[in-house]
Amino acid sequence: MSPAPPRHFLDLWRLDGSDLRVILDDAKARKAARAGWPQGRPDPDRPADGRTLAMIFEKHSTRTRFSFDAAMRQLGGSVIISNAGDMQIGRGEPIEDTARVLSRMVDAVMIRSNHHQDVERLAHFASVPVINGLSDGSHPCQIMADLLTFEEHRGDVRGRTFAWVGDGNNVCASFIHAAPKLGFKLNIATPAIFHPDLVDLARAAEQQGLVHTTDDPREAVRGADCIITDTWVSMGDTDGEARMDALEPYQVDEALMGEAHKDAVFLHCLPAHRGEEVTDAVIDGPQSLIWDEAENRLHAQKSILAWCFRAI
Ligand code: CP
Ligand code: NVA
Repeated sequence: MSPAPPRHFLDLWRLDGSDLRVILDDAKARKAARAGWPQGRPDPDRPADGRTLAMIFEKHSTRTRFSFDAAMRQLGGSVIISNAGDMQIGRGEPIEDTARVLSRMVDAVMIRSNHHQDVERLAHFASVPVINGLSDGSHPCQIMADLLTFEEHRGDVRGRTFAWVGDGNNVCASFIHAAPKLGFKLNIATPAIFHPDLVDLARAAEQQGLVHTTDDPREAVRGADCIITDTWVSMGDTDGEARMDALEPYQVDEALMGEAHKDAVFLHCLPAHRGEEVTDAVIDGPQSLIWDEAENRLHAQKSILAWCFRAI
């Protein structure tokens, strides 16, 4: 019998909503079970016991790098981390060959890549699970942490309204992928030139029509339960000045938060640019959950890894 195919975690639109629910529920349970423990003590079931995760970074990272490393330690496994520039892929070795070689040495690979296609190619040629730790196209691990954070504070996301305000970027894309899978409504306000990916929107529309786009931030946030934004200039963007001009009317400030539901929460994947996409009063204010959100990268990814290892 041939071995089961690797469980990749590349994009939320590819996964079943039931798997996303299993991951979120496992993350809640694991987090609760180790409350107050030292960060380095492994979970009792050690679902990554004896396993190694390779991490490849083509772009900067703080949260993704540290949370995956801490996650593997808490799951009883270990990591090998490298910047892509230090590897032979930095000198042109094909990603296909990198995939084949790493598959002989580690049990899973996480990659943060400039080109989404490279994440897909790595997965295609790897015989171990590949995890997308952010590409120019999406950031699925972030959205799992965001949904975990919302549910901890406000309960099930199903039937709730999320509002994305700003650039229709990679993080926005993963929200679009998640909405039909978990049944939440997503309003997206972007300027026309920085709209979300049309393929993502078409796929979401086919699945259920829970995603609505507009160029009016007030329309998007009206009555919303969660307001989200992100930097106006993502890693790899080269048109920073045009972005700052076009996105200025999309700053999340107290007046905009005032249009949302009175219990609405604010999320931002970080790093943030205070005074640009969000004001200090909002990001450091009572509705902001950004520190829980950052911590939840660790908890959500532990369960993503456990799912990839078929331990949940
Ligand atoms: N939110 C996020 O992915 O942060 P890093 O770029 O620091 O990993
Ligand atoms: N959209 C941002 C997210 C950083 C975590 C970027 O891609 O740079």
